[in-house]
Amino acid sequence: MSVIGCGYLGAVHAAAMASLGHDVVGIDVDEGKVADLTAGAAPFFEPGLAELLEDGVRSGRLRFAADPAAASGSEVHFLAVGTPQSDSGPAADLRFVDAAIDGLLPHLRPGAVVAGKSTVPVGTAARLARRIAESGATLVWNPEFLREGWAVHDTLRPDRLVVGAEDSPQGAAAVDLLRRVYAAAIDAGSPFLVTDLATAELVKGAANAFLATKISFINAMAEVAEAAGADVTLLAEALGHDSRIGRRYLGSGIGFGGGCLPKDIRAFAARAEELGRGQSVSFLHEVDAINLRRRDRAVRLVVDALGGLVFGRRIAVLGAAFKPFSDDVRDSPALEVAVRLRGLGADVLVTDPAAIENARARHPQLGYAASRDDALRDADAVVVVTEWDEYRRELTPQHAGGLVRGRIVIDGRNCLDAEAWRAAGWTYRGMGRR
Ligand code: UGA
Repeated sequence: MSVIGCGYLGAVHAAAMASLGHDVVGIDVDEGKVADLTAGAAPFFEPGLAELLEDGVRSGRLRFAADPAAASGSEVHFLAVGTPQSDSGPAADLRFVDAAIDGLLPHLRPGAVVAGKSTVPVGTAARLARRIAESGATLVWNPEFLREGWAVHDTLRPDRLVVGAEDSPQGAAAVDLLRRVYAAAIDAGSPFLVTDLATAELVKGAANAFLATKISFINAMAEVAEAAGADVTLLAEALGHDSRIGRRYLGSGIGFGGGCLPKDIRAFAARAEELGRGQSVSFLHEVDAINLRRRDRAVRLVVDALGGLVFGRRIAVLGAAFKPFSDDVRDSPALEVAVRLRGLGADVLVTDPAAIENARARHPQLGYAASRDDALRDADAVVVVTEWDEYRRELTPQHAGGLVRGRIVIDGRNCLDAEAWRAAGWTYRGMGRR
């Protein structure tokens, strides 16, 4: 099989498929990335990936190439290129998807299967199916639901597998081929759902829209709780015990970021608008707005806690990645809070166990500290914006208190024990907490 595009999705997919015994070539236009992957080095932080890459490359079942010709001879080609937000609006930019098909077309043979994994606006798969029809290959849509930080687990043991295909003998044969590809996960209990192309594309968009909505729901409750003198973390716990609601994705704080949820809800709404159903998902604009307000709110809390005077004050920002177990800073709420505080003239020192290099590349104007304790030293205020264990579990208020100048902590992820910090003499402010 070939995997076209070796970013977060493709590199993990290629390595995971090789670990199942498949013969895999990963293809990417970035020769530097190809060289790294060929050497068995993961180009980004993802627990468990380095081991899989090393094993795969050593076994000879996994190789990487920059030339699309390396795809010829594969029975199945997975499309795993990025679909970022377009520069000019909310819609997805499909340039890389079309370029991948351009590169693949001369190497497609009759009977081959092209399986789209990228997150695309509904209707894309039908268009791509028409583009490859003459080659005699068949297109199916097989959306990916992996989470960064859990990508290896989610690829090998997904909650569900979804394959969309056209209702034809070729479509049925392509579905059977994917059933064989994923036999290990299916045997281990992952449900395998067969749909039409459009439904498979929609499942992905709808899943991310739902998750984003759930997060913004609890953050909207945080806004109300704050005004009412209630505590959103207790509220979330109480709601979560209702099995119809569930506790997951009710984590309140500075909201969601990353390379998926923010751009996916915008692209989803833009596509619905094109289909004449903008009104059906108009709530997604509110979901986005609630989410972005959280970043403003966190900054406001810091400014207020410092008595309105932030200019020249030293602020320790604990976290830069958009979530723990990731070095990804794309649309990271953590980093945006740091950037805004810097914009107000604060002397910001950002630290993160994995994401400093990526953060520095995007925001060289910020100060960075290699360790948590270096960031805390002489800080006038501390802001926790990514809930790494190093901050959430391992940092005690006593230890931090011995390093800082001012005992002020703003808990942007509602992940600290407020009582313990207050008892140690800290001014503690959470987001939507008393
Ligand atoms: C998300 C989805 O969870 C995956 O299923 C999907 O495959 C992926 O996007 C994608 O489209 O590729 P991911 O971006 O890795 O995965 O991150 P999540 O773990 O979902 O977290 C997203 C953001 O929401 C993070 O900034 C996180 O801090 C925030 N979040 C999450 C909350 O603010 N509260 C929560 O309760 C949960």
